[in-house]
Amino acid sequence: MNVSIEQAADLILTGNIVAIPTETVYGLAADAFNIQAVKKIFEAKGRPADNPLIVHISNMMQLKQLVSEIPDDARLLIEKFWPGPLTIVLKKTAEVPDIVTAGLETVAVRMPNHKITLDLIELTGPLTAPSANISGRPSPTKPEHVEEDFKSMIPVLDGGPSLIGIESTVIDLSEGSLLILRPGYVTFDSIGSVTGKVVTHANPEGASLLKSPGTRYTHYKPRANVYWHNTSLPDQPAGSYFLFHTTQPEITGKNFFFYNQDYASLARDLYDHFRTADHLGYSQIFVEPFKNSEKHPIIPALIDRIRRAIA
Ligand code: TXA
Ligand code: MG
Repeated sequence: MNVSIEQAADLILTGNIVAIPTETVYGLAADAFNIQAVKKIFEAKGRPADNPLIVHISNMMQLKQLVSEIPDDARLLIEKFWPGPLTIVLKKTAEVPDIVTAGLETVAVRMPNHKITLDLIELTGPLTAPSANISGRPSPTKPEHVEEDFKSMIPVLDGGPSLIGIESTVIDLSEGSLLILRPGYVTFDSIGSVTGKVVTHANPEGASLLKSPGTRYTHYKPRANVYWHNTSLPDQPAGSYFLFHTTQPEITGKNFFFYNQDYASLARDLYDHFRTADHLGYSQIFVEPFKNSEKHPIIPALIDRIRRAIA
């Protein structure tokens, strides 16, 4: 069921959950200060209670309500990247309910770059929203994906297809250092050059695991098995779906997709391909591996999401 901005605001202010568009992926939103409403998000998604949520804001007054201090590095990053696909983890205020942060002393905040959702948040105040998929499924990048997972149970504010298609970069600034918990469209290099600081990456297998509870769970998985494709000319096993970021003029077929080095479009379409392959009953998805010589800001995030789908 599609709703208008005003209807979405009414639903949220009366304790309901609504799917909202963002530039990265669709979110499943509730009033961040309404504990009963936030519970509905965890129930609808089947999300483990120890996986904290991002709070989405539309202005800086709301940030002051959510976090107890805004370090200089955060100010620089906000100035440069908000509204946009960068989520910043900071020390929370007492006002932020424990259910939102899964009991952590920190809260993840971002200002999404989507006019409709910024207008909505001006009406509702801060909205807490994970991606609007059943836990473990690929994130939704179109309203149809939300309906596929939740049928007609969740009202959707339609903002068109998500332009980036991959979830935000998550950076933890709560302990003085700059620690990337999840790569996204905003890169290590750009964060390093804006702050003039060393940026480290939390290795999902490593010690920082506990800091980003979400990385513990399987994510971004289609039903089909996903593999790196390790030869340039695939034989064509029946039931396989192929994604190439280069061109291969000698290959054609309805199950082959070529991106001609347009990595941004591949990122935008990736989760849609995963869902389409499932619909059409493919049992394997092969993705062309990336070479070190290929340079584009979205490539590390693409590799991260594809690896998680393979895992
Ligand atoms: O682009 C996005 O970030 C999308 C759109 C809807 O904004 N949202 C999204 O939410 O991807 P979700 O819930 O699927 O992923 C949030 C990630 C999880 O890995 C979670 O563990 C982490 O952020 N996170 C949230 N709060 C945190 C905190 N206080 N400390 C560390 N990690 C946190
Ligand atoms: Mg998610």
